[in-house]
Amino acid sequence: MIQPRLYWKLSSEKRNAMQSAYRVQVALSEESLRNEEDLVWDSGRQETDQSIHVEYRGPLLESRQRYYWRVRVWDESGQEADWSDTAFWEMGLLHPRDWKARMIQPDLVEDREKSEPCPMLRREFELKDGIEKARLYITSHGLYEAWINGKHVGDELFTPGWTTYQKCLQYQTYDVTGLLGKGTNAIGVILGDGWYRGYISYACERNVYGTKLALYMQLNITYQDGTTDSVVSDDTWKASTGPILEADMFNGEVYDARLEEAGWNEPGFDDTGWSNVIPVEFSPRILAAPLGVPVRRIEEIGPKEIIKTPAGEIVVDLGQNMTGWIRLKARGPRGTAITMQHGEVLDQKGNFYNKNLRMAKATDRFILKGDDEEEIFEPRFTFHGFRYVKLEGYPGEVTTDCLKGIVVHSDLDRTGEFSCSNPLVNQLSRNIVWSQKGNFLDVPTDCPQRDERMGWTGDLQVFASTACQNMNVASFMTRWLRDLKNDQRKDGAVPNVIPDAFTDREDFARRLLKRRNWRECTNAIGAIFALFVIDSSAGWGDAAILVPWSLYQHYGDVRILESQYESMRALFRFYEKRARRFGSFLLVNPLKWFRKETWEHLRYYYTAGLHFGDWLAPGDGLVKSVLKSKWYIPTVYFALDALILHKASVALGRDDNAAYYEAMYNKIKAAFQYFLVKQSGRIWPNRQSAYTLALMADLLPGEVKEKSAGILAGMVRKGDYRIGTGFLGASHICHVLCENGYADVAYELLMNEDYQWLYQVKMGATTIWEHWDAIRENGSFQSARMLSFNHYAFGAIGAWLFQDVAGINVDEDEPGYKHILIRPIPGGGLTHAKASYDSIHGLIESEWSLTDDNRLVLRVQVPVNTRARVTIPADYRTRITEGGNSVELTDGAVDIGSGSYVFNCFKREGGNESRT
Ligand code: BGC
Repeated sequence: MIQPRLYWKLSSEKRNAMQSAYRVQVALSEESLRNEEDLVWDSGRQETDQSIHVEYRGPLLESRQRYYWRVRVWDESGQEADWSDTAFWEMGLLHPRDWKARMIQPDLVEDREKSEPCPMLRREFELKDGIEKARLYITSHGLYEAWINGKHVGDELFTPGWTTYQKCLQYQTYDVTGLLGKGTNAIGVILGDGWYRGYISYACERNVYGTKLALYMQLNITYQDGTTDSVVSDDTWKASTGPILEADMFNGEVYDARLEEAGWNEPGFDDTGWSNVIPVEFSPRILAAPLGVPVRRIEEIGPKEIIKTPAGEIVVDLGQNMTGWIRLKARGPRGTAITMQHGEVLDQKGNFYNKNLRMAKATDRFILKGDDEEEIFEPRFTFHGFRYVKLEGYPGEVTTDCLKGIVVHSDLDRTGEFSCSNPLVNQLSRNIVWSQKGNFLDVPTDCPQRDERMGWTGDLQVFASTACQNMNVASFMTRWLRDLKNDQRKDGAVPNVIPDAFTDREDFARRLLKRRNWRECTNAIGAIFALFVIDSSAGWGDAAILVPWSLYQHYGDVRILESQYESMRALFRFYEKRARRFGSFLLVNPLKWFRKETWEHLRYYYTAGLHFGDWLAPGDGLVKSVLKSKWYIPTVYFALDALILHKASVALGRDDNAAYYEAMYNKIKAAFQYFLVKQSGRIWPNRQSAYTLALMADLLPGEVKEKSAGILAGMVRKGDYRIGTGFLGASHICHVLCENGYADVAYELLMNEDYQWLYQVKMGATTIWEHWDAIRENGSFQSARMLSFNHYAFGAIGAWLFQDVAGINVDEDEPGYKHILIRPIPGGGLTHAKASYDSIHGLIESEWSLTDDNRLVLRVQVPVNTRARVTIPADYRTRITEGGNSVELTDGAVDIGSGSYVFNCFKREGGNESRT
């Protein structure tokens, strides 16, 4: 049964304002809601402080129906508030029987091995007078762009989005009432290859989901007199091709304006020369309304500079590495071809560089029709990751007026902002957000520029918390998790990329083996390795368990745990089976072979399979990363998963399971200690990431923990505060150091301008790099094979800036920021830091500054209907006042309700500012 969930944000002038009860009403019109007549559902007064994820519990909802609703609340003293403004939701087509359309393919001759011109489909239809409401429900194999009577329908891009197409195809709904009229109307649709049959993935393969583009749509019209009409995709449509000669996600778009056919999407166009369409088998059972948010043009960036490079190229610098495309203006003779190549950086000599894009050509080409008018071009079925554009063939001088960067990504609301007194750290924080923008384009990808752009699970796993802070990603990630569930294999294994483009692995391998040239072959080898050799890699596959948990924490959404629970458990069962493979005994000290406990522990010591490891740790190549990490990383994540499954089971009231996972956690932890941890605190292997991850997953015995943390801190100090970890370790190291009393070391890591995060910033990065040293100090690059300048994984430090530096934390026991933990840890020479977060309950802020007279001023904002515990930094727990009143602390903290607070705290004599 479909039960939408409702939520509301409360505001109040008072402090400590809480909701004590609510009442929700739902009706079919605003009028009946106002008059409280014919209500569909009235919740009645519910005595509760729940104001998020309130489930609709009225009668069954109907297809295409719009439901209006409002809410009224009572505050903590029983005071009744006014009714809220009216809001609404509208249902899509809920049943396969609601669809009357056919899936239609244009009957065009095509070569399936290469990009072909984009098909255009059209049809005309008659409508009566008095249209009250019209909705277009539409989807496609490939991408679509729809037009009605010459007007573009909606502003969504890359529709219907990238899902596990075999199991789920999204359709979009558009209110097109205003686009239709009495008499003859026309609808036109352009199709593009997109993810469906264009080049995708690290294997750079075409036709991954199918070889033919197709359209499926239904237009439902309701007239004022109550009668209805519909127009569907069927065999009455006509098809042809037009100006888009090629459109490919990786390679770019070729547009020949000379081939434009004016009026093709308007009534009265002569389509007699057009081809027919072929209806094909299709089951609407796999159709689903989008769970995520649409991709849109979000902002525009004007060029910063036009450069003439030493090689004589004309290159435009946008000043920001971004994802999207260029809108170009030009005027010139008919047939003039303008080529635009996209790149992220200039090479050591200052010339245009795009070798790191590997096989992705990322080239748009526009051919002018040569009217005297200025012509404007913008691609639509491709996107590029770039900062620099090399222009060739431009008629006349290229000026900053000729083009604009159009930034394209999923239209996610920005929720979090961080800033502090160090400009480099602020730039880092901006770079993190830009990498999220650049890689949250319908699916969360590793990078937006080269022939890869896939939903790598590990990258999202480490970045999930940061992502939730920066933007409202609740529905975006829920959608991705549905794909993960759809792609999860029968044995519970989770593919390393979601959507998993290669469900038919054998067929895929066969196709790869047919590759002809060396360049293509190296890609194929990488793909085969990632697909067949490394399966459900530790730290990657675990996204199935850790990402739902992150969502639950940030949004208080139990339903995400409910809907992913079986998927989470299936992955864990897969690990359990794998862990029982005893291959690892070879590594165990032979003296231990004869102990019974060794064999007991081996069942929980997970070393089977190959894993990416602490990916891209300095000095580790692929082979080293895989081999070194095998002995500890899988067991760490195995334990962490057990712990999270335990907590998730508790949250879901599944007590039997909760006990099982807790026991598993303890056993895995014991095995980890038995094989890898010494009483001295030494962990094997003696690497930063081994200590970091063991501390993060709480795998050490109490007395050893402190020693291990000390060894980690010592190791970082000895290494000149240079980070030694890759994707997995880097996302936790600073937090782990802070938590164990080494905030000073964490800050040194952050502030080190010669390596890691601030090194990139100093080198001019505007997004997060894939490698710590993607550009070396002498300007040379890391290998071009893996050289992305827009990879968010190392941006997972954003969570630490937010949580430890500025101090906004969620309380695990009351997720969704129902109870907030404010715990800033000043340090690193910062004199000021601030984070604000527009949580599902409302705005949270934590801002601290150090004054010349040794005070810490902490300003806190707590939303209505939530509470917070504010922990004052240890060195500032003297003479604390708030609003002129002195404040008593319990365990260094004070509990507060909603409202704005300013705490004045004096520094303890001799205190060290960076210790917790
Ligand atoms: C991707 C990564 C990914 C990795 C797996 C790379 O090619 O770009 O971000 O996690 O492979 O190790």
